[in-house]
Amino acid sequence: MKSLAAGIGIFLCCAPLPAQELKLRADNIDEIVKAMTPEEKALLVVGRNDYTFGGYDNPKEFVRFLSPSVSGYTQGIPRLGIPPTALADGPAGAVVVTRPDNKKSYYATGFPVGTSLACSWNTQLVESVGRAMGNEILEYGVDVILAPGMNIHRSPLCGRNYEYYSEDPVVTGKIAAAFVRGIQGCGVGTSIKHFAVNSQETNRTEVDEIVSQRALREIYLKGFEIAVKEARPWTVMASYNRLNGPYTQESPELLTTVLRDEWGFDGIVMTDWIQKRNTAAQIKAGIDNLQPGYQVQLQDISLMLKDGRLTMPDLDASVRRMLQYIVKTPHFRNYKYSDDPDLKAHAAITRSSATEGMVLLKNAGGVLPLNNIKKVALFGLSSFDFMAGGTGSGNVVKPYVVDLQQGLANAGLEVTGNLKEMYTAYKTFCRAQFKCDRNPAERWYVEPSIPELSLSRTCIENQARESDIAILTLGRQAGEGRDRPVKGGFNLTAVEQNLLVELCEVYHAAGKKVIVVLNVGGAIETASWKGLPDAILLAWQPGQEGGNSVADVLLGKENPSGKLSMTFPISVMDMPSSQNFPLGDERRRGEDGSRNNVDYTLHKEGINIGYRYFSSVGREVSYPFGFGLSYTAFAYSKPVVKPVADGFCAGITVTNTGKCAGKESVQLYVSAPAGGMEKPALELKAFAKTRLLQPGESETLTFEVSKYSLASFDESRQSWVSAAGRYIVRFGASVDDIRGTGYYNLAKEAAWRVHDVLKPTKALD
Ligand code: BGC
Repeated sequence: MKSLAAGIGIFLCCAPLPAQELKLRADNIDEIVKAMTPEEKALLVVGRNDYTFGGYDNPKEFVRFLSPSVSGYTQGIPRLGIPPTALADGPAGAVVVTRPDNKKSYYATGFPVGTSLACSWNTQLVESVGRAMGNEILEYGVDVILAPGMNIHRSPLCGRNYEYYSEDPVVTGKIAAAFVRGIQGCGVGTSIKHFAVNSQETNRTEVDEIVSQRALREIYLKGFEIAVKEARPWTVMASYNRLNGPYTQESPELLTTVLRDEWGFDGIVMTDWIQKRNTAAQIKAGIDNLQPGYQVQLQDISLMLKDGRLTMPDLDASVRRMLQYIVKTPHFRNYKYSDDPDLKAHAAITRSSATEGMVLLKNAGGVLPLNNIKKVALFGLSSFDFMAGGTGSGNVVKPYVVDLQQGLANAGLEVTGNLKEMYTAYKTFCRAQFKCDRNPAERWYVEPSIPELSLSRTCIENQARESDIAILTLGRQAGEGRDRPVKGGFNLTAVEQNLLVELCEVYHAAGKKVIVVLNVGGAIETASWKGLPDAILLAWQPGQEGGNSVADVLLGKENPSGKLSMTFPISVMDMPSSQNFPLGDERRRGEDGSRNNVDYTLHKEGINIGYRYFSSVGREVSYPFGFGLSYTAFAYSKPVVKPVADGFCAGITVTNTGKCAGKESVQLYVSAPAGGMEKPALELKAFAKTRLLQPGESETLTFEVSKYSLASFDESRQSWVSAAGRYIVRFGASVDDIRGTGYYNLAKEAAWRVHDVLKPTKALD
């Protein structure tokens, strides 16, 4: 408390107004603002780090204190009945570990990572995961979860892609809106993050992301716009990076003009953690809460009020919004949390939801679901050390992780014993040799990671004699603070390649099959090796029940219905963004001394992200956006597209023509009329998923597309414009597998003018 008291001391000249009886209510916020002293107002907008973390002033100390508690608090002012509120990390579960007053562990359910949820293409499912998570947040006495993460997968190499949803803004926005609805339905809040263009981890606190106004509006802001308009999140978290010049946290154009004035956001904006910025600039830009809160920020506010850099109306605007936020919180309602959410019920939810995000990439000869298999040889370190999630602040402190070996055993399969012994001994050996990244208790990525174990041919031959089938798990860990390398990150290592080649040679020679399970948080290279195994299941990082969820799919208890929410390119260099993404050669300085892709990153590719690029130029990929196989098959009817007042509605009937029950997600893409602005060949505008259809059963899916959502952003007019003409409406099982086509005619152009803001500060040509 010492440091905080020093901060408060600055305001001692200002005596509090008499307000003994005045207590905060939802309907007296203006009165409370009037009754507050400047010192109290400052406390309300500066986070309460001293309470949890013991007070600190530099980032290193912050990181030390980060793990054993929730991530932040807002300050309370008891005399006015204003409670403190608690902010816990997400997005794969509530990151709540201990309380300052006792040593008990407060485990939270480790749900599937964001990428996995998005690949379910099922907004109802995501909403139900949100509800379970929201209940844990509420029952652990937390007011807001710092989630969902909704930055765009600009590059497969971004270290935090596992927390984010997709390369596409519509998937991102709709999945995020469902997640927010689920959580906020429990009476707790969300903080959609990181607003905006936090597309890389390299130098994330300083890098200036230079993006065209069009790409910003269409790709990077669109998901946030959808989530804000459709789900009204309580809070938004402004990212660390700069955007076209200023830090996002100091950008009135971003935080006020776009977010509040254009989109109607009515919650609070908080900062991302760690770095201190210019306090007055932040508050004037529209920041309402400075997290985690530095004592010096209290002093800043006092001084800046005195010298005019900050005015009382500036501060009052944030204070008023903070109070509007606080009256919604469980702490304000005095909610008696139990500290005992139903973790068992939530484990069942994570187990089943994970299966729906899994993507079956290959299933040659229908090898899956497994049939007549008794004994499995399990290869790959990750089989025995399954990764439920990624690292960093998004790493949930979960009670356990079911690995694949355990999952298969739980399902009644026998797993050859000596491999487990060997991998366990290897892991122990590596851990003793050096600090490694696979310890589930270690929330942050620690180098070096344990390399895959190279096996002799004899070892593989012995296993092949003893087992009916081989399963190889290839794992990748990544997370906050670091982007993934191409070598050994996106690409397989030589040891992994060799292991796969030898496994396939030996098992296939013995007439036995090989299955690859991918336990990864983002896209990896598949083109060079996907021909080798018989089946490939992309399991993602599927949460604490991971091994059980994978076993459910491998054995056909669940039919996989996930589809890719991002493109799997042949080479990472095929992505146009790779020309301007940190790839490890960032030390080179330009003529002005700055480092490209570190100090600034030029988004030269503009809107050419993922499938927008590949489908427009007709470039081959390894697996296209929207792709995913099923154990059954689906037929699509001829679609119907009908104009309505505000755009069109469409319908298509999907029939399960196969032999087992399954779900199918249908993607609605639109190709705009030719002429005018250059447009991608097609763009996703809506999607829907069937319920579980029994063989022979059908369901008609309906879609609504507004004129506004057809629009592209025309920089020359600073307007969203839907050109007049004929739109081709395509119904796809994936972006490359269009099953039906309809048409929509827009008789007259529709345009929506917005503000001319967020202009790039460097040339992008
Ligand atoms: C991360 C945020 C996180 C915050 C609090 C930051 O470093 O970028 O995503 O919510 O820390 O832990």
